[in-house]
Amino acid sequence: MNSENQEQNIILIVDDNPTNLKVLFDCLADSGFKILVAQDGEDAIEQLEYALPDLILLDVMMPGIDGFETCRYLKTKETTKDIPVIFMTALSETVDKVKGLSIGAVDYITKPFQHEEVLARINVHLRLRNLTKKLQENSLRLEKEVKERLKAQQELLQLTPELEKRAEERTAELQQANQQLQQSEARYREQAKQLEIAFRQLKETQSQLVQSEKMSSLGQLVAGVAHEINNPVNFIYGNLAHAKQYTQDLLYLLDLYAKHTPSTPPEIQEYAEAIDLEFLVKDLPQLLASMKIGAERIREIIQSLRNFSRVDEAEMKPVNIHEGLDSTLLILHNRLKGGSNHSAIQVVKEYGDLPLVECYAGQLNQVFMNLIANAIDALEEYDKERTSQDNQAYCKQIRIRTQVVDDNLVSIRIADNGPGMTADVCQHLFEPFFTTKPVGKGTGLGLSISHQIISKHGGQMQCISDVGKGAEFIITIPIRARSPQLAH
Ligand SMILES: Nc1ncnc2c1ncn2[C@@H]1O[C@H](COP(=O)(O)OP(=O)(O)OP(=O)(O)O)[C@@H](O)[C@H]1O
Ligand SMILES: [Mg+2]
Repeated sequence: MNSENQEQNIILIVDDNPTNLKVLFDCLADSGFKILVAQDGEDAIEQLEYALPDLILLDVMMPGIDGFETCRYLKTKETTKDIPVIFMTALSETVDKVKGLSIGAVDYITKPFQHEEVLARINVHLRLRNLTKKLQENSLRLEKEVKERLKAQQELLQLTPELEKRAEERTAELQQANQQLQQSEARYREQAKQLEIAFRQLKETQSQLVQSEKMSSLGQLVAGVAHEINNPVNFIYGNLAHAKQYTQDLLYLLDLYAKHTPSTPPEIQEYAEAIDLEFLVKDLPQLLASMKIGAERIREIIQSLRNFSRVDEAEMKPVNIHEGLDSTLLILHNRLKGGSNHSAIQVVKEYGDLPLVECYAGQLNQVFMNLIANAIDALEEYDKERTSQDNQAYCKQIRIRTQVVDDNLVSIRIADNGPGMTADVCQHLFEPFFTTKPVGKGTGLGLSISHQIISKHGGQMQCISDVGKGAEFIITIPIRARSPQLAH
């Protein structure tokens, strides 16, 4: 054992023999131990109240309470029970060593003392004592640590349900918030959708109002002009027959004069030559005939204009569809006949044997007008893409076919041999404001309004077209109106 340890260790020697005490004291003090001394058991017990040694050397045979008794007492006390006790006996004494060890002593040394042996035994037991102490300390520390951990674990366990509850509550709150967010988002989307629909309807209504206003003022203008021209033209037309009769009478009279007056007076002769009487007599009937043809043509035109406008007809009536088509063609005649920039467009009519069809004639004419005007636009546009040589070889054509499809359905097909349309254009054709024409040229309303008019008549309108293959619009409408309000 090193000197440092020896300094720290205190040894209590209990012996009634002063010689023994002295021998041990000297020996142990020399080895660096601190020494306490007691002369009997009671003295030792008393001293242990004040100071606790690391080891006790206890004589067995002593007056008063002997070593065994003293040891037994020390082992009962909490403060002293762990201090190792080594009994001291004389070789001559017959001592029950087993008894001493069973009481709690750790060893025996015998007198007379062998210094080396005494020191070796003391050091062994001190080391054991120190190790035991450390062990106890460690186990105490461990025990404490385990206790603390257990406590912490328990606290954690107690907290766990609370934490779980809080987490569940928070999750529920978050879920609810999320749901509310989703609901309000859906509401906003729905509102935006409705706004969009309302806006689209507003635009459509506005455009229809504009278009129908345009059509109605056009109709009124046409009807007004037709009406105003009608009277004077009838006046001319009605008198032409008389003019023809009178002319014939006068010419006959002239003939009679010539026959019965063989020598014509020179003045008459001169005048007849000046006015080229011979030619006049031949030409006058022809002139009257061509005036009649012209007046008849004007009457036809007036009839067509009236047909087209139909302003007076706000309700459904049985109508001759062919009249509507013809009057529309007549109004567009100027564009069809061609001019300096465009060659004429040939119109091929393949009219079937149609009954009168119950409809709003003015509106239906508006549809024909839109379709034929679109066809003319497309054909004129096509002209620009071709060389003049190509154009001479190519005959622009609009073909109009009508037929009865079944006992209550007629079809009107308007086809052109123009540029046709891509599938993409075909898809958007009936949408309001869809146009491929330059700004200011087309509004993109013609077909959407036409489609609505046909739907209102309980009919259908479709388009068949391909790029380079022309376009054909097919309208089918019932012969007798289905709605009770429209029937007779
Ligand atoms: N016969 C046709 N051939 C080729 N394209 C056509 C024909 N008819 C219609 N289209 C296409 O359909 C589009 C829409 O036609 P719609 O009549 O609705 O409007 P728009 O003619 O452009 O203008 P608006 O008629 O209002 O003046 C046209 O711009 C054109 O591209
Ligand atoms: Mg158009």
